[in-house]
Amino acid sequence: MSRLIFVLNGPNLNLLGKRQPAIYGHETLADVEAGCRKLASGHGLDLRFHQSNREYELIDWIHEARDVAAGIAINPGAFTHTSIAILDALNTFEGPVLEVHISNVHKREHFRHHSYVSLRADGVIAGFGVQGYELAVERLAWLIGKAA
Ligand code: DQA
Repeated sequence: MSRLIFVLNGPNLNLLGKRQPAIYGHETLADVEAGCRKLASGHGLDLRFHQSNREYELIDWIHEARDVAAGIAINPGAFTHTSIAILDALNTFEGPVLEVHISNVHKREHFRHHSYVSLRADGVIAGFGVQGYELAVERLAWLIGKAA
């Protein structure tokens, strides 16, 4: 059984720490990656951490995960609300999928209330700040351990 998890990030998350800090906080994506890596290694998990502003790259990483990964945590950014293609890709993945949002999307504009990805996600974390990523890694570790 694979001990590899993917943490995927969509558009504009490369600017984390600089982008609307009142909403997304001051920590950078590098800080998030470091936190996830520490937690994952504590659980004996390998981790691939990626960010892209391009929809097709996220889809390609999901396809790659099909062959090698036990679980995916994904913050699709604005693609959450628009991308049937990312939903279709996630539907080809057999392991657990967790959707992460730094902000509480339900407290924000109406267009953020709908998520295509939620139609596939086994769990959704929103509004816990960047700590949501660590909660997602914890949950993936638990789900993968349970399935082993
Ligand atoms: C986000 C919420 C989305 O609505 C937004 O487009 C993002 C970030 C979040 O992490 O809170 O880019 O996914």
